[in-house]
Amino acid sequence: RRIDWTPMMAEKGGYKHFMHKEIHEQPRAIADTLRGRMLLSEGDVHFDTWNLSLEQVKSFTKVTILACGTSWHSGVAGKHMIESLARLPVEVELASEFRYRDPIVEKSHLVIAISQSGETADTLGAFKEAKRLGAHTLAICNVIGSAMTRESDLHILTNAGPEIGVASTKAFTTQLVTLYLLAVKLGRMRGTLSVEGAQEHLTQLAQVPKMIEDVLKCEPQVKRVAREFMNAQDFLFLGRGPMHPVALEGALKLKEISYIHAEGYAGGEMKHGPIALIDEKMPVVVIAPKHPHVAYEKIIGNIEEVRARGGKVIAVIDEDDTQADTLADHVIRIPAASALLAPVVATIPLQLLAYHVAEMRGNDVDQPRNLAKSVTVE
Ligand code: AGP
Repeated sequence: RRIDWTPMMAEKGGYKHFMHKEIHEQPRAIADTLRGRMLLSEGDVHFDTWNLSLEQVKSFTKVTILACGTSWHSGVAGKHMIESLARLPVEVELASEFRYRDPIVEKSHLVIAISQSGETADTLGAFKEAKRLGAHTLAICNVIGSAMTRESDLHILTNAGPEIGVASTKAFTTQLVTLYLLAVKLGRMRGTLSVEGAQEHLTQLAQVPKMIEDVLKCEPQVKRVAREFMNAQDFLFLGRGPMHPVALEGALKLKEISYIHAEGYAGGEMKHGPIALIDEKMPVVVIAPKHPHVAYEKIIGNIEEVRARGGKVIAVIDEDDTQADTLADHVIRIPAASALLAPVVATIPLQLLAYHVAEMRGNDVDQPRNLAKSVTVE
């Protein structure tokens, strides 16, 4: 019997690219992130590495998140989670900027580094600086034994499994879920979240792997959109509230592998500049699940503004949405999730869009030009 598979193809599990495989692995990866950590009956979260006392957690006055690229985007989403559930102010800093200014770091600050590799030079440098200045340090990484896990006072693994594609996919969504677990843990310890409140959040989290399985079914629709816009020169991505980092991530993914210029913007900022770019050649991806936190009515306003200028709207909306449906040129439907969890679900179609556009353009998806998986230079 003839064997048509090379060992490389076998590793890709039948997919043409690692990135595509990794996108489809997300239900499993997220289940692995959650496994053993959700204590539903107690309304609590268990991390086996956890070493912070009640007193320490209650004494924190601020959280600073340090990261680069996609990991920085998960930090922006994490800010919404931690502020909402643990009522702690969170600042999200680009690690490459933090290092070279004179940052205010105090002993009562919890400094969190987020990094898939745990080796990114800028993040590691900033993290070490924060530690030197006396902050308590926590690393959220995907690689066991990486430099950041060794440098930190505490580390939490995202358990996504090895990520080979240079464009980060499952590392991002597992970071989001880890940050959510952390927000619940901090909320319980600080007393801002009741047992019942935590149980509600954990119940929603437990549904995420299934939701990702469901949202992956939008792939044929995403492929049609990719085919229509694969030759566009620019893309705009808009989102509000917790969907803002999703817009940033959608734009980053597209530029990394398709080489199409893309910008991610908070919806409210469109009228302060990017609206000037809109004409009939400009596809605008609007991430618009139905939540007050996401300012749904306002984002509908953004859709109308784009349409009025001839722009093409691709709207990512809840499956039962009938309003955005009639306004957009294309809709991609996603299962309805809570405002804080919607970023995990809404990211999937944007990963698929970037993947298919890049694949249709014949690009080297897993090894995009000029990029390295782990940036160990400053
Ligand atoms: C993601 O698609 C990128 N390749 C890149 O932005 C990456 O997220 C960044 O370099 C940070 O890497 P890290 O998570 O390993 O620290």
